[in-house]
Amino acid sequence: MKIHIISVLPELLSSPFSHSILKRAQQKELVNLQIHNLRDYSTDKHKSVDDYAFGGGAGMVMMMEPIVNCIEHLQKSTVFEEVIYMSPDGELLNQSLSNKISTLKNIIILCGHYKGIDERLRTHFVTKEISIGDYVLSGGELAAAVLCDSVIRLLPGVLSDETSALTDSFQDDLLAPPVYTRPAEFRGLKVPDVLLSGHAGEIEKWRFDQSLQRTQLRRPDLLKDY
Ligand code: ADE
Repeated sequence: MKIHIISVLPELLSSPFSHSILKRAQQKELVNLQIHNLRDYSTDKHKSVDDYAFGGGAGMVMMMEPIVNCIEHLQKSTVFEEVIYMSPDGELLNQSLSNKISTLKNIIILCGHYKGIDERLRTHFVTKEISIGDYVLSGGELAAAVLCDSVIRLLPGVLSDETSALTDSFQDDLLAPPVYTRPAEFRGLKVPDVLLSGHAGEIEKWRFDQSLQRTQLRRPDLLKDY
């Protein structure tokens, strides 16, 4: 999968992709992540990327030209299935949306700033808008990093235990069951006997029951399909 991220603050994006699973996914060439500095696509001498809003009001608006220059430059060599704009008024990200995006081959992610981007970009160049939650961040970079993390870990070969993404919370609309590790007893706090029993079938049943109970308690809204 190839992911191109367009940003005015590319430095913000370097750390999230430089460690652990996301770093290894790139080293193994399971994902190719390229971050583009929007200012490199500005044609004026000040490298501006924003301007005042027509009609007045506080806050700057990201201009069309540098963004269109960058998108069209990328489109010269690649057909993109989606041009995604990270925005608090986009479609709310969930596991099912991450699963869908993980099946795509080439995507562009556009990070907004200030008051957002010129509306004509949203209507004519952006094909999907995604929010990571009902709160406003200072810019789209952290949201883009969240989206990429949730997508990249689903790509075949990224997780060493292929099944572990399937047992994540939300993957089957249930929260994940509790997990324990050694020691089997710590200051009198014991691990449930069933997990020490060696009975694979019993353990699977216990985990499913725990998932169901936890979901009932914490996220009953997820159980509408059960
Ligand atoms: N940009 C600012 N806030 C955001 C959010 N909640 N989701 C996606 N992009 C954003």
